[in-house]
Amino acid sequence: MSTKSDILAVLEAERSRHISGQELANSLGLTRTAVWKAIKTLEAQGHKICAVPNKGYKLTEESDVLSPESVLQFLPEPMRGNQIITYKTLDSTNTELKRLALDGAAHGTILLAEEQTQGRGRGGKSFFSPYGTGLYMSVLLRPNKKSDTQMITIGAAVAVSKAIEEQTGKPAEIKWVNDIYLGGRKVCGILTEAATDFESGGIESIVVGIGINCTAPAEGFPEELSFSAGSLDSSGLLRSRLAAAIAREIIEGFEAGYENRNLIDEYRSRSILTGKTISFQKEDKTLSGKVMGIDDSGGLMLELEGGEKLTLHSGEVSLGYIKPDKA
Ligand code: BTN
Repeated sequence: MSTKSDILAVLEAERSRHISGQELANSLGLTRTAVWKAIKTLEAQGHKICAVPNKGYKLTEESDVLSPESVLQFLPEPMRGNQIITYKTLDSTNTELKRLALDGAAHGTILLAEEQTQGRGRGGKSFFSPYGTGLYMSVLLRPNKKSDTQMITIGAAVAVSKAIEEQTGKPAEIKWVNDIYLGGRKVCGILTEAATDFESGGIESIVVGIGINCTAPAEGFPEELSFSAGSLDSSGLLRSRLAAAIAREIIEGFEAGYENRNLIDEYRSRSILTGKTISFQKEDKTLSGKVMGIDDSGGLMLELEGGEKLTLHSGEVSLGYIKPDKA
C-alpha cells in the first residue's frame, strides 16, 4: 500500500476522532512532512478532511469518496481480503468486471465507479449513471458445483433490498424481476450477467451489477425517467458503507445457498406487483393481466384479461393496463 492509502485507511477506520500528524507519522513509520503531503493529495482527490491545530486530522462526516480503504472497513472480517477496485469514471462496471473475470479475477471481487459513461440496463437499455449522485458497482461470483445459480436474480434483489433498508431505515420493495423501489419510485436497477465455459457449458462466472440513485441530480432526472425514478435521499448515508452492505449481502447469500432459506418468501413479501394489473410484450403484442403472485422459482404468475393463466420467467413488465395494439 502507498503512504496515501495507509493514511486513508487510518482516517477511515477512526472517523470519530482527530488524529494528530505525529500519531499518524509514528504509527505508520513516516515523517510529519510525508503525512502532510499525503493529506494534501487526499484532499486534492476529493476527500474532505478537517484539520484542527493541536488536534490533528479527521474525515468529515460527509466525506464520501469511494475507495478500497473506505469500503473495506465496513466489510465483515472474512471479506477483508476480497479485491476491491474503485474508478472515478468507467464505461460500465459490469463490462469491466467481465473483462477482469476473463483474466482470472477472484470470487468476491468488488468493482465500483463514481460515474459510468456507458452504464447498461436490462433489455439492452442504457442506465443513467451521472457523477456524484449514484452508486454503481458490480460483484463477481464464481459458482461451484453445488451453487444454485437459478435463483441468483431473486437472491440479488433480496440482498440489495435488505442492504438499502439497513442503511436508510426505509422499506425497500421489489418490482419483478429486480428493480428496487422506495416510496413508489425506482431507486435501483440490477443487471446480472453470466459467462459460460465453452467446453463444459457450465456457468464460469456471474457478474451482479447494481446501480443506485443515492440523491437526485441537481438538474433532475432525464425526462424519460422523471415519472418513475427516485433516490434514496437518506441523511448520513455513506456510499462506501452501503456498497459494503450490498456486497456482504450478495456474497454471503450466494455462499449460504438459497435452497435452505425462505428466500422466495422474503422476495414475495417485498413484491409491489402482486394484485396489480401489468402489461407486457409477447410476440409483438401488448398483453395485460393481473399479477396473482410469485411462484417458487421466482416466476410472475398472471391471469390475463380473458382468464388465461400464464407465468413469466423473464422479460420486462409495466405497471398498469395498456390498451392492446390493434391487429
Ligand atoms: C436496469 O435497471 O435495467 C438494470 C440497471 C443496472 C445498472 C448497473 S450500474 C452498475 C452495473 N454496470 C452497468 O453497466 N450496469 C449495472
